[in-house]
Amino acid sequence: MRVSILVFSPSGHTLKVAQLFKREFQNNDTIVQLIDITRNENYLEGSNIKEYLEEELDKHDILLIGGPVYAGHVEKNILNILDHLPEPGGKYGDLVVPFVSYGGVHSSIALEEMGKYINKKKRKSILGVKIATKHTLTQTLSNIINDGKPGKLEEEIISKAVERIIMTANKDYNKIKDVGRSFSYSKLPERILFKLLSQEFIHKKYKTVSIDTKKCIGCKKCVSVCPVNMFACSDNKIYIARDSSNCILCAECYHSCPSSAINYQYIEKAKERLEDGYAKLEKEQSAIYPKIKEDESWK
Ligand SMILES: Cc1cc2nc3c(=O)[nH]c(=O)nc-3n(C[C@H](O)[C@H](O)[C@H](O)COP(=O)(O)O)c2cc1C
Ligand code: SF4
Ligand code: SF4
Repeated sequence: MRVSILVFSPSGHTLKVAQLFKREFQNNDTIVQLIDITRNENYLEGSNIKEYLEEELDKHDILLIGGPVYAGHVEKNILNILDHLPEPGGKYGDLVVPFVSYGGVHSSIALEEMGKYINKKKRKSILGVKIATKHTLTQTLSNIINDGKPGKLEEEIISKAVERIIMTANKDYNKIKDVGRSFSYSKLPERILFKLLSQEFIHKKYKTVSIDTKKCIGCKKCVSVCPVNMFACSDNKIYIARDSSNCILCAECYHSCPSSAINYQYIEKAKERLEDGYAKLEKEQSAIYPKIKEDESWK
């Protein structure tokens, strides 16, 4: 069996989940290819994403695709990748496993929307996985949510997921069903709300990241950490090189700037919502969908 994994991971947690999947598949004698699209211009801009995917994606039976949850949705770059997936047939099997990492607060419709895109691309979702990880926006707040995750518990869930993926893929093909409907696990009012409030709508007015040139020491950390290559350097001066609409508000530049030269207004919103235990965590933190009885112990 051959597996390809595509991942977008602004702050590294979804990548860690992808690497745990890779290790677990390899432990089960599976050939695995992992493509990390973070900071990769070919997958973030332009109209040739499908061609790049066709060039880079190895022959596979199963495709795993994952990204972080941002504002109740899966981060939009990974939806864009799903939208440009080459058709199954020939080199590519049609079985897909979407996975998301999230800060444990709410994963809402992230898996559900991935399931719909997968179906639209004539592939079948055979399992969906949500993994609770550190909430990156709480890194500098008094209440760091899910610090240290993914850890042992999440590794166990990933191992169980791999077992189920292999079992499903080995079934008679005609008996393998698309299970995308099981990804609609959030309560109906929340699902309706996030269907109405797109990620773009929620984040739009905060995409105002700027550099305080008086404080900037030109270390270029922001250039190297930005997952969508917003920064550039010319004559030793750092500037924002892409239209602000491309910023995904990941806060990597803000967190890594050694001289507090990045203005990032969204942190005030995060403080308001997430500090001092105000945010309630999603009841079931990490899970595999569709649910089966023995999963109950992970609650
Ligand atoms: C802009 C932004 C929005 C986020 N929105 C949510 C959210 O709606 N629910 C949640 O539980 N976590 C949310 N998070 C936390 C991330 O989903 C979580 O930390 C994830 O593991 C980050 O993945 P990465 O390290 O691969 O970037 C958000 C983080 C950022 C930066
Ligand atoms: S990380 Fe901060 S100090 Fe370093 S180049 Fe970027 S803005 Fe300037
Ligand atoms: S500019 Fe900063 S907040 Fe925006 S995507 Fe880049 S690193 Fe993230």
